Amino acid sequence: MRIDIITVLPELLKSPFEASILKRAIEANLVEVHFHNLRDYTSDNYKSVDDTQFGGGAGMVMMIEPIDKCISALKAERHYDEVIYMTPDGETLKQGMANHISLKENIIILCGHYKGVDQRVRDHFITREISIGDYVLSGGELAAAVLCDAIIRLIPGVLGNETSALTDSFQDNLLAPPIYTKPREYKGWKVPELLFSGNLPKIEKWREEQAYERTKERRPDLLED
Ligand code: ADE
Repeated sequence: MRIDIITVLPELLKSPFEASILKRAIEANLVEVHFHNLRDYTSDNYKSVDDTQFGGGAGMVMMIEPIDKCISALKAERHYDEVIYMTPDGETLKQGMANHISLKENIIILCGHYKGVDQRVRDHFITREISIGDYVLSGGELAAAVLCDAIIRLIPGVLGNETSALTDSFQDNLLAPPIYTKPREYKGWKVPELLFSGNLPKIEKWREEQAYERTKERRPDLLED
């Protein structure tokens, strides 16, 4: 998979890709991530990427021309399956969407800033608009990092144990069951005895029940889906 991220703040975005699982995925060539500074696609001396709103109103709007130039330059090199715009009024990111995007070959992610982008960018270049939740961030960079983490960990080979992403919360519309490790007892707090029984079908059944109970209590909306 190849991910091209268009941003006015590449320095804000880079560090999540320089540690742990994302770093290893890049080093193992399971994913390529490229950052493009939108200011490199401007034509004036000030490297302007935004301007005031037509019709008046507070806040600056990201201009279409640098975005068009950047996306067009990328598209001239290869085909892209998706051009994603990170925005609080997009479709809310869910595990199913992350699964779907993780199967794509090449994607572009555009990070919004200020009031957002000129509507013509959304109408003519963007294939999918994604929000990471009902709150407004200062820009799309952190949202793009969240999206990339959610999709890159699903690429086969990225996680050590291939099955572990499949047992994450949300993969089957259930939250994950409780998990325990050593010591067996700590300050009198014990690990459920069944987990030492070696009876795998029984343990699996217990986990399913726990996952269901936890989901019913915390996220009943998931059971309705
Ligand atoms: N940009 C600003 N807020 C955002 C959000 N919640 N999701 C995606 N992009 C954003």
